Amino acid sequence: MCGIFAYLNYNVNRERRYILEVLFNGLRRLEYRGYDSSGISIDSSSCKIPAVSGSNSNSNVAPPPLVFRKEGKIESLVKSVYQEVAETELNLEEPFAIHAGIAHTRWATHGEPAPRNSHPQSCGAGNDFLVVHNGIITNYEVLKETLVRHGFTFESDTDTEVIPKLAKFVFDKANEEGDQSVTFSQVVLEVMRHLEGAYALIFKSRHYPNELIACKRGSPLLLGVKDLEDEGSIGASFNDAKFLSNNQQPRELFFASDANALVEHTKKVLVIEDGDVIHLKDGGVSIFKFDHAKGRCGGTLARPASVECALSVLEMEVEQINKGKYKHYMQKEIHEQPESLTTTMRGRLIRGGACKSKTVLLGGLKDHLKTIRRSRRIVFVGCGTSYNAALASRPIVEELSGVPVTMEVASDLVDRQGPIYREDTAVFVSQSGETADTLQALDYALENGALCVGITNTVGSALARKTHCGVHINAGCEIGVASTKAYTSQIVVMAMLALAVGGDMISNEARREAIIDGLLDLPSKVKEVLKLDEEMKDLAELLINEQSLLVFGRGYNYATALEGALKVKEVALMHSEGILAGEMKHGPLALVDHNLPIVVIATRDACFSKQQSVIQQLHARKGRLIVMCTKGDSASVSVGGSCRVIEVPHVEDCLQPVLNVIPLQLLAYHLTVLRGHNVDQPRNLAKSVTTQ
Ligand code: F6R
Repeated sequence: MCGIFAYLNYNVNRERRYILEVLFNGLRRLEYRGYDSSGISIDSSSCKIPAVSGSNSNSNVAPPPLVFRKEGKIESLVKSVYQEVAETELNLEEPFAIHAGIAHTRWATHGEPAPRNSHPQSCGAGNDFLVVHNGIITNYEVLKETLVRHGFTFESDTDTEVIPKLAKFVFDKANEEGDQSVTFSQVVLEVMRHLEGAYALIFKSRHYPNELIACKRGSPLLLGVKDLEDEGSIGASFNDAKFLSNNQQPRELFFASDANALVEHTKKVLVIEDGDVIHLKDGGVSIFKFDHAKGRCGGTLARPASVECALSVLEMEVEQINKGKYKHYMQKEIHEQPESLTTTMRGRLIRGGACKSKTVLLGGLKDHLKTIRRSRRIVFVGCGTSYNAALASRPIVEELSGVPVTMEVASDLVDRQGPIYREDTAVFVSQSGETADTLQALDYALENGALCVGITNTVGSALARKTHCGVHINAGCEIGVASTKAYTSQIVVMAMLALAVGGDMISNEARREAIIDGLLDLPSKVKEVLKLDEEMKDLAELLINEQSLLVFGRGYNYATALEGALKVKEVALMHSEGILAGEMKHGPLALVDHNLPIVVIATRDACFSKQQSVIQQLHARKGRLIVMCTKGDSASVSVGGSCRVIEVPHVEDCLQPVLNVIPLQLLAYHLTVLRGHNVDQPRNLAKSVTTQ
């Protein structure tokens, strides 16, 4: 739930100001992962590159590194660092030929947002070992008790603080026992042996100046490599031998929780695997493998030892992570849906041509389609918006596959230990691919022998790696905390999944072709819906002071009601509830009066006439109605012109949720701006929920 970042420049002069700016920018790119406090550590003075590189002695102790931590947004950290630097007369222009800095942006789990609970966490006054951490250490209380018995005192409420203290303990013990040459990686590997839980960690130490170590288990982490002689030729083939070796060439190395923070520096990345320990020293990169099951190090791997360890080239462009002409990421992401949907479908739909009929190709599923068709049931699992996307897709998957589909909120499946069988196909939906609840449910389904399918936006994520097969939604990087374009791409992927699992049965042919046509027309219809922007802004102005908003939907659009209400709730901080219209008379009707605004989704599908009757009943109770209907249907839904109407284009029923959610996304966006709330970083929320 946090973002970690590190920057090491080797054999290239970088001034302190430059180093600070690289660290701050890294944090700005990761801020969406957590934004209630942040911190960095840099060196207080430059340490010469050892004349003989590769020396094993750790007697080369540097002055204590500087640590700056601040609660609030990154910009308050930036301000306070420059203030402190000015007060202490640190020279911002001081050059460092080699320097290792670490940084962290936090979303609080253990301990309130406060400087003492921010990272880097350290082992005491001398800052001998410093750690930034994303994840959660589940056995920290036991470790803390042990360390307290050994004389350590703790100042934070975090789980993380045990890590640098444990490193100090391991280091001191080795030295007391006469092992003056214990290496940084040996210390970290020993620390890992004691840690339980999920983590991505970066270590810095004054005993190992100019070195950094990162390791991970569960939480995401990437290494970025920029050989300065490569500048201008990024994307050229890599020399792995050089990558590993001590390297006298000028080079910059980065660690980051995700690619957003790397792409402006380099596209050459290593997706760090669970159990990898990456040691940056003397310009080289050593990779150790820690075997968690056995609690030991498997030794250094000669690179490239396995496919998983290969360097890859980021396909992302810097423009993708900038706001461009938009004020907020959420706004940008809503408006880029015509393009994101096109990318989601690219190469996966075949219309006409040599093929007799229209077809769907999902490469990641093709070897598993038979098993899915023969499943006893399909179980959709997800959280929040991803759950809603699965819910929107449930009817079409059931219709085309003939396999019953059940829905599971990931945390609830785990809490109940609900039945999952070998004959089940469990489909896990997650934008980030890192959501702890979803991953725990995935582990549970794997243990129970189900075929596990992943649907995610994040290549290389834990979900992508752990599932048996799956589909990437390819929606492009989503930075706004409120998920928008990922939602619509998820629905499209699941519609394609329904088509692929349904197969080419003659009885389904017309329906299948209509859906494929609908898919291909979606981007242009989404463009049409986006023209409602101003109208949604007017509506937001009307609703700005309301306490509450209800959204009624049914059938395919029950999910739209839930998702629209979730958007309003999470960003506009207005109470909002999605209600299954069929349940109206069983309770919710009691809420209806002339004050409460209600959105009713009544676009054309099999439920249309029922929704017309819902509108009549709500009108009879003097409800303040805003009706979403199909273009041209205004007169048949507005009860004599008494309701406000939002018209959307018509598309095949199973795809209508893609269009219908967009006005609600726009409404949530404008309400948030008008109410003066933070659009991209809503209160108390973070983009990927990597803790339970
Ligand atoms: C809401 C939102 C969340 C996420 C949920 C699951 O806008 O973004 O509800 O959908 O936390 O996240 P992923 O999809 O990353 O598993």
